[in-house]
Order: sequence, then structure tokens, then C-alpha cells
Amino acid sequence: MTIVLDGKTLAQKISEQVTKDVSKLKAEHNITPCLAVVLVGEDPASKIYVSRKKRQAVATGMLSKEITLPETTSKKQLLKEISLLNADPNVHGILVQLPLPKHIDTAQIIEAIDPRKDVDGFHPVNSGRLFSGVNSALVPCTPRGCVTLVKNHRGQDLTGLLAIVIGCSNIVGKPMAQLLLQEKATVIMAHSKTQDLPTLCRKADILVVAVGVPGLVKADWVKEGATVIDVGINRINNPEGGSCIVGDVDYVGVSSVAGAITPVPGGVGPMTIVSLLQNTYAAAVNQIY
Ligand code: GUN
Repeated sequence: MTIVLDGKTLAQKISEQVTKDVSKLKAEHNITPCLAVVLVGEDPASKIYVSRKKRQAVATGMLSKEITLPETTSKKQLLKEISLLNADPNVHGILVQLPLPKHIDTAQIIEAIDPRKDVDGFHPVNSGRLFSGVNSALVPCTPRGCVTLVKNHRGQDLTGLLAIVIGCSNIVGKPMAQLLLQEKATVIMAHSKTQDLPTLCRKADILVVAVGVPGLVKADWVKEGATVIDVGINRINNPEGGSCIVGDVDYVGVSSVAGAITPVPGGVGPMTIVSLLQNTYAAAVNQIY
């Protein structure tokens, strides 16, 4: 029987702990963590993600601040907003929703965020700390959530398991590989140029897929009993009309082979948001001293 990895329920449980931690921080230090979310432009998916992040931060007792800027915002204007947030002692976490409009250099914006407030964990200081295994790193939310989910399912121990990560983005694939390595898994990073991907993937005990190709991973790519983590969120048109969200894994086919699999939606998505709340809480605590 395949186990469905229910990210929604686990995220709810973690969120209850964050709520307790937030309330204790308020009682003991009179600090309420505040997450600032910056949205540039009108991307509909980004608007939905930002409103979820804000809503859930507030649900745990945190404060949230939204800075909404037009598509035409210049790099200089955005840098100015970030420097105001960096200097504001009441803001503990800063998240600039990606993607940014094409005329803005994303790397330069990320590097402008104070690393102590970088709750996305994208700043080179935080990726460097993650790479070096320094505990104080703020770790990117999606990989952090995926590892929490896998460890929760696998009794916390991933030692010696073969983990294959398909996709090597800065947001998911690369930090995911580092986190799995820290858990003492044997890690392979695969991508669109990897030769004979199905044969390679069939060796994986843990298969993480983050490529943005609907239904790429089929049943015959997966070893019997493997744990499959689907990071994809793809909107596709239904033949009968309308549209729906699917992952990068052929869920029905792969469910007949995998030992455990994340659904889309309801798997990785809620874990990403709760990891952001954990990072915001940690950032607030780190800024006390
Ligand atoms: N766009 C897609 N995923 C993310 C994320 O984790 N953080 C930010 N800031 N933007 C995103």
C-alpha cells in the first residue's frame, strides 16, 4: 500500500508549535516576529502565494507587512524599499516574491537583503552557510519542508539512502541536495542533460522531482517502495474544459509502485509555507542578540 505523504496535516502540526513559540517570544521578550513580503507586478500565481504566506503568518500570531509595487518599478526603487526594510527593527523577515520582472536583476536584489532577515535563504551568505553545514543558516523553504516531510515519514533517519534530485535550481534542487547530504544520504543531482534518466531514477530510495514538466516521472522510473517527492506545481488545461494543477510526477501511475508519494496539491506546498514561518521565527530570535 502506498502511503500518501500528507503535507497539509504535518504543516498544521508544525504551525501549532510555531504559534506556541511566537506567543512565548512575545511573553518573554516582547517581540512579535514580522514578515515583510514584497510583490512586484501582477503575476496571478505570485499574488496567490503571497496572500497565503501573509495569512498563515498572521494565523500563528506573527505580524505581516505587504509591499506591493507596480511592474514598472525600477531596480533602484526596489533596492530602496529593501534598504528601508533592512533598517526597520520591527521587521524580522524579508521575502521578495520571485519571479521579478525581467528588467530587474534578481541576484542583485537577493544580495541586498540583510542575510539575518533573508527568510527565503537565498542570499549567498545563507547558501554558503548551508554548503558549509553551519547551523545558523536560513535554509530555503521548499527544500526544508521536503526534508521535514521525508524525515517524518522515514523515522528521521536517511543515512546511506540513495537520493536523486531532478532539477538543479537555486530555489529547490541545489539546496535540496545539500540538505539531503547533511542527512547522510548519498545524493545525485540529475537534470535535463542527464543520460538515461529513467534507469538512473529507478535506483533511488528517495526521488525528488522539481523541474516544472507535468507528469514527467512515470511508474517505470520508480523503484518499488521508493519515497517520491513531487515539487512541481503545473497548471494544465483539461480536455473537457477548465484547468487543474498537477505535479511533475504521474501521480496515479507512480502510486502503484512507490512506497510513499506526495500529492499535488497538499504535499510539498503546505510544507513550504510552514518552513517560511519557522524561518521567520528563527530570524526574529537571532535578531535579539
Ligand atoms: N517563487 C517561487 N517559489 C518561491 C520561494 O520559495 N520564494 C520566493 N521569494 N519566491 C518564490
